[in-house]
Amino acid sequence: MSDSDDTKLIEQLRKEINLHNYRYHVLDEPLISDYEYDQMAQKLRDLEAAHPDWVTPDSPTQRTGGIALDRFVKVRHPAAILSLANAFNAEDVKGWYERIVRLDTRVTRSKFVLEPKIDGLTVVLHYEDGVFVQGATRGDGEVGEDVTANLRTVKAVPLRIPVHEEDVHVPSRLVVRAEAFIRLKDFERLNKKLEEEGEKTYLNPRNTAAGSLRQLDPKLTGTRPLTILAYAIVDSSERTPATQWELLEYLRKLGFPVTDIAELVDSIDQAVAKIPEWNERRDRIPFEVDGVVIKLNDLDVANDLGVSGKDPRGAIALKYPAREISTTLKEIRVNVGRTGVLAPYAVLSPVEIGGVVVKQATLHNFDFIAEKDIREGDHVMIKRAGDVIPYVIGPIKELRNGSEKPYEPPSKCPSCGQPVEHLEGEVAWYCINVGCPAQLVRNVEHFVSREAMDIDGMGEKIVELVVSKGLVKDYGDIYKLTRADLLNLEGFAGKKADNLLDAIEESKQQSLARLITALGIRGVGEVLAGDLAESFGDLEELSKVSINDLYRVEGVGPNIAKSIYDWFQNPRNVQVIDKLRSIGVWPRGAKERVNKASLPLFGKTFVITGTLPNLPRDQAEQLIAQNGGKATDSVSRATSYLVLGENPGSKLDRARALGVPIIDEAALRRMAEGK
Ligand code: IVH
Repeated sequence: MSDSDDTKLIEQLRKEINLHNYRYHVLDEPLISDYEYDQMAQKLRDLEAAHPDWVTPDSPTQRTGGIALDRFVKVRHPAAILSLANAFNAEDVKGWYERIVRLDTRVTRSKFVLEPKIDGLTVVLHYEDGVFVQGATRGDGEVGEDVTANLRTVKAVPLRIPVHEEDVHVPSRLVVRAEAFIRLKDFERLNKKLEEEGEKTYLNPRNTAAGSLRQLDPKLTGTRPLTILAYAIVDSSERTPATQWELLEYLRKLGFPVTDIAELVDSIDQAVAKIPEWNERRDRIPFEVDGVVIKLNDLDVANDLGVSGKDPRGAIALKYPAREISTTLKEIRVNVGRTGVLAPYAVLSPVEIGGVVVKQATLHNFDFIAEKDIREGDHVMIKRAGDVIPYVIGPIKELRNGSEKPYEPPSKCPSCGQPVEHLEGEVAWYCINVGCPAQLVRNVEHFVSREAMDIDGMGEKIVELVVSKGLVKDYGDIYKLTRADLLNLEGFAGKKADNLLDAIEESKQQSLARLITALGIRGVGEVLAGDLAESFGDLEELSKVSINDLYRVEGVGPNIAKSIYDWFQNPRNVQVIDKLRSIGVWPRGAKERVNKASLPLFGKTFVITGTLPNLPRDQAEQLIAQNGGKATDSVSRATSYLVLGENPGSKLDRARALGVPIIDEAALRRMAEGK
């Protein structure tokens, strides 16, 4: 390539990168994946390295992007909040190692720490005499925004350190760096709630976290499930640990949340050998990760190596392949939810993303389709993150050929054909027909689901069958199903029918909290259902309460109070409740509270690590919870047992270090049975 070709390419890359920087850091509306962006930036860095004379001060390589917005007070960081250089494969990692060995031979004697690269936002937390006094965003790395009030609402941020351990000395001044983010499950829960309430749903966890942190009203931030993980010390009045591994332990001791899947390895070869395992593990991490950070364990050596631009030489981020891909949107279809909300989704030309074939993706709501001008026949970018339902990011308009069809939202419910309605102030469209079969199917599915009445063997297909045959007209009818009814259904043999009838019978013993969850009242999830059960004792009492009584329950605001109140005023619901009572599905709240203390695992806390031979993780947690125990994510002194499976993570080391007893799945089962 000639020099003039290179100058053109450099110019073009700078322009594009500047645009993407602005979209991502300022508007929070990225147009391309981080992976594509990183590769573009890498290309520019390579070209500039080949022509150092052409580097200009305004090149995006000369700053890390993102300017602090004017809305918040600006904060100068006590030391530069550095970024990380990227690697895309094992070769790049080895190249990095060789470069730093050449600079300092002590590198060969250092161990390495592997940490998840959390896809969130850096926050800088200041402590004076152990008190949280200021929190800032990263901004441009030198100056960030003061978001102290917002960070105070994040429960994972310790307001005073040490939080629990006594045997740790706290420096008078300490500045900690952490990543703020939203867990995938929390993100999904938040969106489900918003969808049920007819509100606009969020597009992805990272942008939601960014938006929440920059809320001018901290009360709003407080309603978002933000969390943090700490991984570095920016500044301290005293000497802090000399290795990254000890530093993580030190932060943990002070009470900061710290990842429990970090690993310490002896050499760079071992670090590289771990890469496939980290790639494979990606889907089991409960938050979005966009790579693995490989850090020199020896922090003195890392410090002495200094920085290259804005990147510390002592660490490198190995980026995962993007989980974004383009495909054709064949058709837009609409699903009718439990509360009648119409939810549009895309039927796609099947594509593989990270080993999973994706055929459908959510389109969030009709406003989203209109705002992004998504058309049937469009090429669209889609993204898959962890277990979250894949979603459409937007159309690639440049690839249109004119055959794409603009989309009109339906005016009639796709299930029952009744006109749909739009409620004042909400983005959602609803089917308000109480007899709509799609809603009934969703309601029954919810009623029998694992979090609610937990009727094993009553999957989606069976629910659709019994509803379409007219056997179940409300969920009370589930308890009226007979053996003959079931045997008449397609694919039902004797044993299957008996098992289902047993499961239905057994579900009559479920707690009041579960029954309240099962009713599917808008805004009432498992936690609130538990509080309502405790406060009111049975459904009769709950059905008689006033809106004012409901206000007294924690977590009940005006909308939810009204939603609960209205639900019990609806004559159809009153009928269903009567039906449940006459059948004997009538648990009482107080009874459950007494029983809990007599459950075999009561008062015990478990942490699971690795893959158990027979129980998937969620079922193991359920077994623990149902028998009165608690399953948590990280090992501490409060952990009663570590349940050990195959390929355990660093939780095992930590449990050993703290002397937490280690048991296997069989022992857990025995304990749960009270043996
Ligand atoms: S270390 C000197 N560790 O990735 C410290 N960064 O692409 C340099 N990030 O701005 C950063 N998880 O926001 C580090 N375990 C981790 C991380 C992490 C996520 C973010 C961080 C940084 C970005 C660089």
